[in-house]
Amino acid sequence: MNLKDLYINFFISKGHKQIPSAPVVPENDPSVLFNTAGMQPLIPYLMGEHHPYGKRLCDYQKCIRTNDLDNIGDTYHHTFFEMLGNWSLGDYFKDEAIAWSFEFLTEVLNIPVERLAVTVFAGNEMIPFDQVAHDKWLSLGIKEERIARTKDDNFWIAGETGPCGPDTEMFYWRSDDEIPEKFDPEDERWVEIWNDVFMQYVKNSDGTVEELPNKNVDTGMGVERTTAILEGKKDNYESSIWVPIIKIIEEVSNLSYKGHEESMRIIADHLRTSVFISADDAGIKPSNTDQGYILRRLIRRAIRHAKKLNIDIASDWEQRIAKEIISMYKTYYPELEKNEAIVLEVLSNEKQKFNRTLEKGLREFSKMINHIDGKEIDKDSAFRLYDTYGFPIELTEELAHDNGLDVDIEGFKEKFKAHQELSRTASSGKFKGGLAGNSEIETRYHTATHLLNAALKIVVGPGVHQKGSNITDERMRFDFSCDHKLSDEEKKRAEDIVNGWIKDALPVTVEEMKKSDAIASGAECMFIEKYPDIVTVYTIGDGISKELCGGPHVKNTSELGHFVIKKEEASSAGVRRIKAILEDK
Ligand code: ALA
Repeated sequence: MNLKDLYINFFISKGHKQIPSAPVVPENDPSVLFNTAGMQPLIPYLMGEHHPYGKRLCDYQKCIRTNDLDNIGDTYHHTFFEMLGNWSLGDYFKDEAIAWSFEFLTEVLNIPVERLAVTVFAGNEMIPFDQVAHDKWLSLGIKEERIARTKDDNFWIAGETGPCGPDTEMFYWRSDDEIPEKFDPEDERWVEIWNDVFMQYVKNSDGTVEELPNKNVDTGMGVERTTAILEGKKDNYESSIWVPIIKIIEEVSNLSYKGHEESMRIIADHLRTSVFISADDAGIKPSNTDQGYILRRLIRRAIRHAKKLNIDIASDWEQRIAKEIISMYKTYYPELEKNEAIVLEVLSNEKQKFNRTLEKGLREFSKMINHIDGKEIDKDSAFRLYDTYGFPIELTEELAHDNGLDVDIEGFKEKFKAHQELSRTASSGKFKGGLAGNSEIETRYHTATHLLNAALKIVVGPGVHQKGSNITDERMRFDFSCDHKLSDEEKKRAEDIVNGWIKDALPVTVEEMKKSDAIASGAECMFIEKYPDIVTVYTIGDGISKELCGGPHVKNTSELGHFVIKKEEASSAGVRRIKAILEDK
């Protein structure tokens, strides 16, 4: 049995319910482009909402982290990875969480206790030393010298704000060297394999920390790293997760992994992530903004490294790799098989687009660096590579670094901005990750989103469906299926209907029901197959709007304020986008 099955079975045997992996794009969390941890889709529940599956949950979650893209190519960084997790939503706490972590590691994975070490939270001005976690580990047989107390590394939060708390991390001695008696977390031969976070706080945007209504547990174990450890591999890419993919890269390049590790790892990693992004029901396509830009960068960077290996770019090399990835993962993620044709098309279209200019762009680059004055590629050259040859700026940067040069990134950004208003996320540091709690204003926007969805069904027609949503504390953005630009009249009508419902002070109610009943009752939802069998349905008034949703929402529409549509524009083919705000009541 593989690690995922062992993990899920173990936690089911401890009274947990398995929940499906959420889509890679977080719903209603504009502060991150992708889910970066298993807990992200569970934030409303960690904050106190009732989860329809109960208080003990477990899953494997698709995660994407692109902030350290430059590290891809080493033995253990991946842009996509699977995170195993178990959660207590105000149910068990430190005692059981630690005991089960220990039992799973030593009795299911059969890791000898001598190879394990842990860290616990040392305490700070606000939160004391975690004596309970420390004593629990000791009682289970972890020696005192193997329990390190650290401060900053043992407090976990996904970004700047949101649910958080002290944690205890488990480490494995990965080396053949003799195991030292005393655990030094700085010694890289100890690798972290699991993290148990005791989430009992929430950090607000003003920096204050408050107690959550519940004491929760959030844990995370990386599938790739742990699998490599269990298989005795020091290079993750030599584990059974990667070998079949690397093997195809060896075949299409006629080269062996040894000696070409970096490019092969980059191709394997980036194509795996691209497959998962483009197979996701969020329907992301390569573009110049947000998630689409990441997808474009990943595919183009993979192509460049394929070129480095002299792979015939025009051949079906990327299709073969993608098909292998799909066949490896489809039993766990059925969307891969369902959307296989889309994935293959995304890859081949993007390849063709890039391939048309890649050669010329590389020649242009060589010319540029031959004529360069000093050690920097100037903003005009960088912009030309982007604009004319489709080089993501990161690619120019990477090529420059390979040649010992820098790029005037700031200058490039200014030019880019002047040219086409730099995408909000690329400039705001969103790539770094971060997490919004649901502020009161965001909660109001969630409810306004449901009202707008319902109003558009009246104004435009029942065929309108939500295609995306993005909320900040300054505005809401709503994407919906619609084949025409809304007229001023239609916009005004939608606004008036929403404001009418706000004025009517309609109650917002929530109930739990079977997914099939929810659908039968006509409840709206964006990614039907992503919801568990039992769902929460929010209803406004007596059925003006009815949607499957994790919340949170206001209790009454009178809390919303005045609704104003600021902008209506095209988003993609057949999809329109509305930006709207709520003005003070
Ligand atoms: N959320 C925790 C992590 O990602 C478990 O490490």
